[in-house]
Amino acid sequence: MAIQTKLLNFTDEHLALAGQLIRQGQLVAFPTETVYGLGANALDEGAVLYTFTAKGRPNDNPLIVHIYDKKQIWDIAREVSDDAQKIIEQIMPASITIVLPKKATISNAITAGLDTVAIRMPKSLEARKFLAACQVPVTAPSANTSSRPSPTTWQRVEEDMQGKISAILCGEPCQVGIESTVLDLSHDEPLILRPGVVTPEQISQVLGKQVRMLTNPTEKVNSPGVKYKHYAPKVPMALDLTGNVDKLCAHYDTLVSQGHNPVLLVEDVTAFGNRNVHPIGSTDEQVAQNLFENLRILEKSYTHIIASYTSTTSFAKSILNRLTRSASNNII
Ligand code: TXA
Ligand code: MG
Repeated sequence: MAIQTKLLNFTDEHLALAGQLIRQGQLVAFPTETVYGLGANALDEGAVLYTFTAKGRPNDNPLIVHIYDKKQIWDIAREVSDDAQKIIEQIMPASITIVLPKKATISNAITAGLDTVAIRMPKSLEARKFLAACQVPVTAPSANTSSRPSPTTWQRVEEDMQGKISAILCGEPCQVGIESTVLDLSHDEPLILRPGVVTPEQISQVLGKQVRMLTNPTEKVNSPGVKYKHYAPKVPMALDLTGNVDKLCAHYDTLVSQGHNPVLLVEDVTAFGNRNVHPIGSTDEQVAQNLFENLRILEKSYTHIIASYTSTTSFAKSILNRLTRSASNNII
């Protein structure tokens, strides 16, 4: 049966209510600087399991435990290595998640049976206010239906979760727009499992050594999340990495000749005559911030999305990771 999803603000009263709902085992979505999260009490296995139902998420894909105080890490992780200490002291709170050996108190439902646990302290003050009001560690995947683009506004959370969760804390649109960097520190060699706004260069500098990035998702590592269909709009999407206007126009015109109504999601919207265009953003930061929202807007009006993105910076690699998967690897 559908439940009434309350829309809450960041008043003291609503924050207290959101915390109470979490402690009662209900689900509450909340903003972070990356994307909106779907919060549940990490100490309540029933609530954690309901997260998978609400999202339609395969239960072999583990959840991140969110904290508001660094001291909580020692209640969750069994071992905190020297590398982990450095990240905790010098980078956190930030858009980074660290994977460490888990304590027995952390349920297998959270970690999908792995011996490790992912921990994140968001940079967003709003997120930390909510987490502090909960007074417990909070599991939170992105607050979208599984396989859909992550929500970066509360309205998108409502689109996917209305009637399924108890409340949404309505904050500002997310500043970063793509999910945190996931850094596995549970082995001797640090490994980036998911790229994000915190780059390998920043991590290398703090650790004083090279960090490897997981490039081949079939590589045998324990990060089940990377194998699933992800971030996909409801309409077919193609991705170009060259910015070649002639090629983009030809692809667009072919679709039009087949009776479709495509849109170009591009850096320079002035280059395409009277074709349907939408700006992807002119800096990496803008592209990331609006990426998922753009996909959710464009899928409502067009039959095909043709995205073009040419940046080659370190941050761009994390954006490309999302774009490639949104386009189901359909690079033109
Ligand atoms: O920015 C973020 O990280 C957002 C906000 C809400 O904090 N959360 C988020 O959660 O993106 P989710 O569930 O959509 O992605 C979690 C990722 C998945 O790829 C999952 O496989 C990986 O983290 N993960 C979680 N626990 C892990 C573990 N113990 N070992 C390896 N990977 C893990
Ligand atoms: Mg997600």
